[in-house]
Amino acid sequence: REHPVLAQGDGRYVVSTYKEINDILHDPRFSSDMSKCYSKEDQRVVEEEGQIPGFVFLDPPKHDWLRHQVMSKFTPDLIYSQKPRLLEVVKEALDTRRNVQQLDIVDDVAYPVPVTIICEILGVPRSDEYLFHEWSDQLILGNDTSQARNPEIRMQTLKAIKSIRTYMADLINAIKRQPREGLLSAMLHDTTNEKLMSNDELVTTSVLLLVAGHETTVNLISNSMFTLLRFPEWLERLRKEPELAAQVVEEVLRYEPPVQMLRRTSLADVTIAGVTIPKGAPIHLIIAAANRDPEHFSEPDRFNPERKDIDHLGFGGGIHYCVGAPLARLETQVTLVELARRLENPQLIDAAPPYRLGASIRAPRHLFVH
Ligand code: HEM
Repeated sequence: REHPVLAQGDGRYVVSTYKEINDILHDPRFSSDMSKCYSKEDQRVVEEEGQIPGFVFLDPPKHDWLRHQVMSKFTPDLIYSQKPRLLEVVKEALDTRRNVQQLDIVDDVAYPVPVTIICEILGVPRSDEYLFHEWSDQLILGNDTSQARNPEIRMQTLKAIKSIRTYMADLINAIKRQPREGLLSAMLHDTTNEKLMSNDELVTTSVLLLVAGHETTVNLISNSMFTLLRFPEWLERLRKEPELAAQVVEEVLRYEPPVQMLRRTSLADVTIAGVTIPKGAPIHLIIAAANRDPEHFSEPDRFNPERKDIDHLGFGGGIHYCVGAPLARLETQVTLVELARRLENPQLIDAAPPYRLGASIRAPRHLFVH
């Protein structure tokens, strides 16, 4: 309320109100290319061993072209066609879990579902999926700020990214020679497209789809279940009325968003809410705070899936609005409905579960129920 835009004193700016964040997300004077900012720490976030950055870190026109290449094939029809397989994967995860006495919503369900589905959508052979499970574990560890400065963990994370890139480059070459099912093949063999992505662009883009969509969806499933366990009347309603799943997931994206913060840098001196942000400043947009801004949402601290004001910023906004939003929504809805159906009266074993440590992510690390 007092400082919608706050100069941190170390050259960084923090923005925490809905209107200001939404304005910045729609303003071309703010860039997603953090290599243009003057903070080494913020630059490091996108550094990937000299590889070209994914389009989430690029500005127009390159961003728009790459995004369009994906969006023209990653269509709602393709995503909804996954629904039956998705339910199968959720059931499989629950049926084959290690400990039948005690369920960890995070490791037993939230983890395996998104990585399996995105591999299948892209066209990764099922026999290789286990590799992605291992790599994604490593990436998640690398995102833990308590570990990020640990040189050993950092090396392992970079190694995992490199392995994913090498794997995807080989897969793309194989698909080039022999078309098959899946998004990669559809992009590579699109005869209507005059200019296809280069091999390098396609490798980076497929790694982005794998990485951007994995941990975030794990965290949305975990945050949703944790919220439903805190408000069991909603778990009960979901069991009786599975059609409420869409509203529940939307409200979790507002109330407990998996991504809490976005980064931008200013391409010129820009004044927002009376504060002049200098060119090249690293700017942290706290979307989790915007989602509870009392100027924008009525009763912001109340979990209410029936609310009408649901234009949250959990998937960002503007030209970088999440490409995977329809898939993440579907995955979470299907998983929650199945969990609500199976779990009679689930009780949290640890009422205050351990949380992941990260500046921009927020979710429990484990969620044991019996
Ligand atoms: C962008 C959140 C799932 C792919 C974003 C952004 C947010 C976000 C906040 C905006 C980033 C920015 O403006 O800097 C989430 C959350 C998810 C999720 C909370 C799950 C609950 C997915 C999935 C995929 C995906 C499943 C892909 C399969 C992307 C991509 C971008 C993006 C490619 C970049 C879009 C662009 O720059 O134009 N996501 N995401 N996300 N997301 Fe997601």
